[in-house]
Amino acid sequence: MSEAGAGTASSHVWTSARGTRSNDRAAFAEQLSRLGAGWRTTLLGMPLGEPLPLWRRAAVAPAAPRLLVACGFHGEEPAGPWGLVEYLRTASPAELDRVDLALLPLVNATGFSAGTRFNRAGQNPNRGFMSALNDDRPSAEGEVLLAHAALLDALGADGVMSCHEDVGVDAAYVYGYERADAPGAFSRRLRDALAAHFALHPDGAVDERRVADGIVFNAIDGSFEAWLFTRGAGAAACIETPGRAAFDARVAAQAAAIRAFVSG
Ligand code: NI
Repeated sequence: MSEAGAGTASSHVWTSARGTRSNDRAAFAEQLSRLGAGWRTTLLGMPLGEPLPLWRRAAVAPAAPRLLVACGFHGEEPAGPWGLVEYLRTASPAELDRVDLALLPLVNATGFSAGTRFNRAGQNPNRGFMSALNDDRPSAEGEVLLAHAALLDALGADGVMSCHEDVGVDAAYVYGYERADAPGAFSRRLRDALAAHFALHPDGAVDERRVADGIVFNAIDGSFEAWLFTRGAGAAACIETPGRAAFDARVAAQAAAIRAFVSG
């Protein structure tokens, strides 16, 4: 989610220990599709000619918490989408069946393929959701998500988490959104999941926001997560793994944070 410092046009690509390039869309799609049993997929739209799919659990227990995980808004932050694959690969059916889980596995497909932060049109897919707040315009991907606002409200009614990285740092942090004056258990649980893998960002500022104990709190900034929180999601978060760390470690941390979010 970091907006300062990261070159928006420069390409960032890593290679996993298994030899997979982080921007290999075909490998990503193939590995994701192998995990599709028990899920229904819907095509929300085709921004810039690329599919923007939504995954939902096919069978859901009544009154299960409604949770939404979104990945791949920024193409130079590939551990999010790959972390989701790792989470699904290791999640038990019982774990998944306790919640009403929806997934946006890859929002910015053109950025992912190029390893670039923005999409092929040079737009930031994680800004412009709250046009009344600033002059940001939505991206092609944002237009698709905005058109499904009511659906996304319902899917993330009890919690929204967006999986990001910060290429410029070697420590992790969380943007937490809660209806409280200070971070509560929701934000701290995600922060602690990342802290098991990386040092936390030192107290001070990150992207001109105050960060304390690894958490930036209630920063309403026109992002996807701030938008859905403002619209009524019970809580929201954006997790940030450090782009300077080893790629596989970042993928593992993303999977752990998703597990912490889903498990409550
Ligand atoms: Ni980001």
